[in-house]
Amino acid sequence: MKTPPANLVVQLASIVEPLAPAKLFPRPQPLEVELGCGDASFLVEYARRNLAKNFLGVERLLGRIQKLHRKGDRLALTNLRGVRIESAYFLQYLLPPHAAAALHIYFPDPWPKKKHRKHRLINEGFPGLARQALAPGGAVFLRTDDADYFQQMTEVFGTAKEFEKTETPAALAEITTDFERGFNAQGIPTLRAAYKLF
Ligand SMILES: C[S@@+](CC[C@H](N)C(=O)[O-])C[C@H]1O[C@@H](n2cnc3c(N)ncnc32)[C@H](O)[C@@H]1O
Repeated sequence: MKTPPANLVVQLASIVEPLAPAKLFPRPQPLEVELGCGDASFLVEYARRNLAKNFLGVERLLGRIQKLHRKGDRLALTNLRGVRIESAYFLQYLLPPHAAAALHIYFPDPWPKKKHRKHRLINEGFPGLARQALAPGGAVFLRTDDADYFQQMTEVFGTAKEFEKTETPAALAEITTDFERGFNAQGIPTLRAAYKLF
């Protein structure tokens, strides 16, 4: 058995060479990726309940990705790792093609002002990045509280070739994220959608 890494946050040896996911985890298992994993509370719980899968959280803020380490380490999870990097860059340059069985994007920054919408992660180019990242049959799971962003998400995936609408499995839907719990507590409705490669 391999010794667990000292820190669950991957120290990137290079930001131009793709990662080798198989080398990050002790067991070769299907890999799921969460983009913008925040405090990692969703991913830690999902990893804890699914020990036969590997999970990688992507987050740009140092303080938040350090929480992934602290929470995962406390539970001695060997199927969880984090990377501190920008999500679209990660998909385009660091994740090897077709390496992920699923992508999870929950409550991405909404950029509600019209002039800022170009900063949204889920835009017309995103399905292409997702198609490159996903293994055959892979899925994208989306959640947001922002109705306008949700409409953009459903439009870009609704018109993307090779993706079809699917359901979020109940076992996944029941695990909430940090932001989702905040919205739920305030009575703010949230929206979800899922798309599958066919
Ligand atoms: C609104 S929070 C949601 C966090 C978490 N998914 C949740 O639902 O609790 C958005 C998170 O995505 C991160 N983030 C925003 N844009 C990002 C990007 N382009 N690349 C990586 N992380 C990003 C932010 O730092 C923040 O932690």
